[in-house]
Formats: sequence, C-alpha cells, structure tokens
Amino acid sequence: MKTQLTKMRAWKKLHEHYKHVKNVQMRDLFDADNERAEKYTLQLDNLLFDYSKNRFTDRTLKHLFRLARDCKVEENIKAMFRGDKINFTENRSVLHIALRNRDNTPIYSDGKNVMPDINAVLNKMKKFAEAVRLGKFKGHTGKKLTNIVNIGIGGSDLGPVMATEALKKYWQKGMQCYFISNIDGTACAEVLNRIDPEETLFIVSSKTFTTIETLTNARTCRKWLVDALGEPAVAKHFIAISTNRKEVEKFGINPDNMFEFWDFVGGRYSMWSAIGMSIAIVAGPDNFEKMLEGAFAMDKHFYRTDLEHNIPVIMALLGIWYNNFFGVKRYAVIPYDQYLQYFPAYLQQLDMESNGKFVDKDGQFVNYSTGPVLFGGAGTNVQHSFFQLIHQGTDFVPCDFIIPAISHNEIGDHHEILIANVLAQGEALMRGKTEKEAAAELTKAGKSKEEVKALKRYKSFSGNRPSNTFVLKKVDPYTLGMLVAMYEHKVFVQGIIWNINSYDQMGVELGKQLALNILPELSGNATGIRHDCSTSRLIATIKKLRK
Ligand code: F6P
Repeated sequence: MKTQLTKMRAWKKLHEHYKHVKNVQMRDLFDADNERAEKYTLQLDNLLFDYSKNRFTDRTLKHLFRLARDCKVEENIKAMFRGDKINFTENRSVLHIALRNRDNTPIYSDGKNVMPDINAVLNKMKKFAEAVRLGKFKGHTGKKLTNIVNIGIGGSDLGPVMATEALKKYWQKGMQCYFISNIDGTACAEVLNRIDPEETLFIVSSKTFTTIETLTNARTCRKWLVDALGEPAVAKHFIAISTNRKEVEKFGINPDNMFEFWDFVGGRYSMWSAIGMSIAIVAGPDNFEKMLEGAFAMDKHFYRTDLEHNIPVIMALLGIWYNNFFGVKRYAVIPYDQYLQYFPAYLQQLDMESNGKFVDKDGQFVNYSTGPVLFGGAGTNVQHSFFQLIHQGTDFVPCDFIIPAISHNEIGDHHEILIANVLAQGEALMRGKTEKEAAAELTKAGKSKEEVKALKRYKSFSGNRPSNTFVLKKVDPYTLGMLVAMYEHKVFVQGIIWNINSYDQMGVELGKQLALNILPELSGNATGIRHDCSTSRLIATIKKLRK
C-alpha cells in the first residue's frame, strides 16, 4: 500500500510552501526577472510551451518535482510503455502508445508483441481508406462513396469528430464527413436527410459493440439503407470498427469489413486505432500517419525527458498545484483556431472520464480532490461568453491558450487580430489592473472625480490569474498528434500522483443500468419498479404527455 498522498513529505512541504506563495503576484515576479519567460518555456519541434505565467517560484517547482518523484511518476511511465497492466481494475495493459510506435520496437502485453497485429490493421485501414478515396471501393450501385458517416459515441466519436474538423483543410475534395452519436433520433434524422444512400459509407465504431446509442443508431441507418438499396447493399455500405467480432457478425456486418482493435486501447484513447478510419478517409492515410508520427514524437519526449523539462509532466504538476493547494477545481482550454473548436469537448472526456475518480488504487476513498472540471471553446468566441468570469470571477480558472502562428486561411488581418487577442488575454490575466491604474485611465478619458471614484473598482482586475500558452506553427496532422498525446500524458501523470486508475470508467455504468430499468416503464405497462417519488412522477408526466 502506497503512503497516503496527503501524508507524504513532499505534499506537506507543498502545503507549507503554499502559504508563502499564495499572495505572491505574478506581475512582481515578471518585473523582478526579465528572463522568466525564457526560463519557463520549452519547445518540442514546432510546439512551444510557455508556462511562465503561472503562480510559482523555483522552489515551488522543486517541491512539485519532488512530489512527482516520490509518487514514482518515472517508474509508472516506464510501466505503461512496458505494457504492464496498469489498468488493474480491468486487468489490462494501456497501450495506445503502441498504436503510434513508429519505430516498431516490440511492445508486449500478456507476453505477446502487439506490434504485428497493430501494423496489420493499420495497413488494412490505409488500403481501405485509399480505395474509398480513389473510388475503387464503390457502393452497391457502382457509385463513389463520398459521404462518410461515423456512428459511435464517447471515445468512438469525439476523437474522430475533433480530428476531422481540425484537419478539414486536408479533406479530399468532394468528400463529406458526418457523425451520428446521440441516441436522440434527431441526430440520425438530420444526417440521413442530407445524404444519398448510394454514395454513403457507414462506419459503425464501437469498442464493445454493445453500446445502446451506437447500436440503435446503426440499426436505424441499416434499415434506411436496406429500404433504399436492398439487403445485399449492406456489405458495400457498412464497415465496423470494434474489439468484438462476435457482436459485429451478429449485427450483420461481414467480418471482412471489420477493422479490429484491442482491449489494451481505451475508448477515449482510441483515435489512433482504426477508430480513426473517418480521419484516414477524409484527410487521407498519409495525413493519418503524420498524426501518428506527431504523437510518437510526444511519446518519445515524455518517455525520455527528465521531469524538469518534460512538457506533460509540468502541465500535470501545475494542475495539481492549483487543484490541491489553491483548491481550484476547474480548468479551461481555449484554442484560438476555428479548426480546433471541438478540442475542448474531446479533452473533456479524456480528462474527466479518466480522472473523475474518488477511490484510489488501494481501494480507499481519497481525501483530496482529483480531476478538475474541464471546459472551453474556441477563441475569440469565448471571450464574448464566459471570459467575464475568467477575468473578474471570485476564483481564478487556470487556462491553456493554444495558438497557431500561421492560419490555414490568412485572410486580410484576421489572423493578426486573433493572435493579438490570445496574447492580450494571457497578459491581462497575469497583470490585471489595479484600482489606481483604472482610476488613472478613467481620469485620462475625461471622467469627473465622482465618476472615477464610482467606477474604478468595477474597472479593476485582480490579475494573478494563471495561464499556459502553446504556440504551434500551424494546425497540421503532425502537430495535432503532438497536442493530443501531450494532453493524454498530462492526464496520466495526474492520475499517478492522485493514485487513481485513469483507465477505467465505472462511473458511467449506474446511469446506464437505471435507464434500462426505466425503458420498459416508458414504452409499455411495466410497473412495480420502485423509484423515488420525483422519478416516478416524472415518468408518469412524460407518459401522459406522449399519449
Ligand atoms: O461512456 C462510457 C464509454 O464506455 C466510453 O468510455 C466510451 O468511449 C463510450 O462509452 C463508447 O463505448 P463503445 O466504443 O464501446 O461503444
């Protein structure tokens, strides 16, 4: 049994140290040290990570790295890359890193090198994607398949949604990509209304092939296709991505049209597997491989670099610093690039499904907080929605800003304005504006003494609000791969320190179980199931409204 986190020496030291740092102003740290940005910036290929606008001193970092070492972060990283069964509640290795292991060194799970199977599926996937793109794999009536519809949910949806959008500039001309995830019939109807069955390829993506949303949507789409083109068309218009061959066959998809992945790939870590088929088709298999290469570059950095220069490790430690010592349990990710608009939603599952846990690896309830609430959206849009709270809310929200230096759409001065805005946010959050500064500005603007007095506090900003800035050259497949892998590893390191299993998701089961109880009550006359009076009343009201 591991020493309880809060009893560790490094943890206690951090608590002590926090008392000295909590009131330190970042603007003073910057004023006192012109080298701060240089000291606290790291670069990997085309990705720059500036973490200087955070509330720490050298001593803070020293304590945080000590904590990481005492929590055996280095050993745990090795264990993951070695294929140890670190997902112990499900008795599984955690090997999404093997999917992008571009130098093909053997990686073992259960004594078996996983690389030959991974390479075989990747090759099959590349060939299939190319055949669809070239129109060699045609629809039942001989037409080219230009509508690609991914049916999946959670990890079988969010990665492909995010990455296809991020790489939109790389899409093959004439191709369209759609996603059906929600069980809400509207999700299906809205896509099916827009496409022609003769030109449509459905990709049923489900690790388990038992997820009610995905199977219900897939059945609806299958019926729609069969109604239009007849049963034999299914073989030419449906493929499956899954670990569950038996269920794929049962569903009526030819196993030749199945692309396999494995239990050692978690759903929210699966966009690197055949789950990324929609990405490979619309953006092309070469670009899909470049994305794998970018992730591989980040994996190597993560595996080989000492903690003090390790980007995901530093991100994780700063997160722990705010979450567990400042008591700030929220975190925003703001990409300043329209193509990355779905990145926060993707990260939400990655982070919150991985680290939203209250039982530690020793089976004990934790007595410290774990995963933060992650939210975000594309800048500058979010500046006009939730940024008021980020600047003047009662608590600070650590932010990650992501900005490409070059836009895919350099139109007029749009991109300069975008860059100016992201940099201004980081600066404003860090420096803030004192009442004195606000008063001086108001006076300069010609306000009367009374007006200055009345307004200066409203116009002031406390500042000292932390942010990380990530500068990319451009949102390309390689950089996207790096970015995603970077966040995956950040989440992993936090899970190690919190001593939780970041790779199961048992918390989503109870709701699913209860929904199965309620379903027969809604659709039929099943009675006798005991609910609380609120749930029973809601069921009765909805049934009445549906009559
Ligand atoms: O919501 C829980 C979950 O198991 C996620 O972890 C997963 O990504 C999603 O459901 C979809 O599961 P599947 O790919 O098995 O359909």
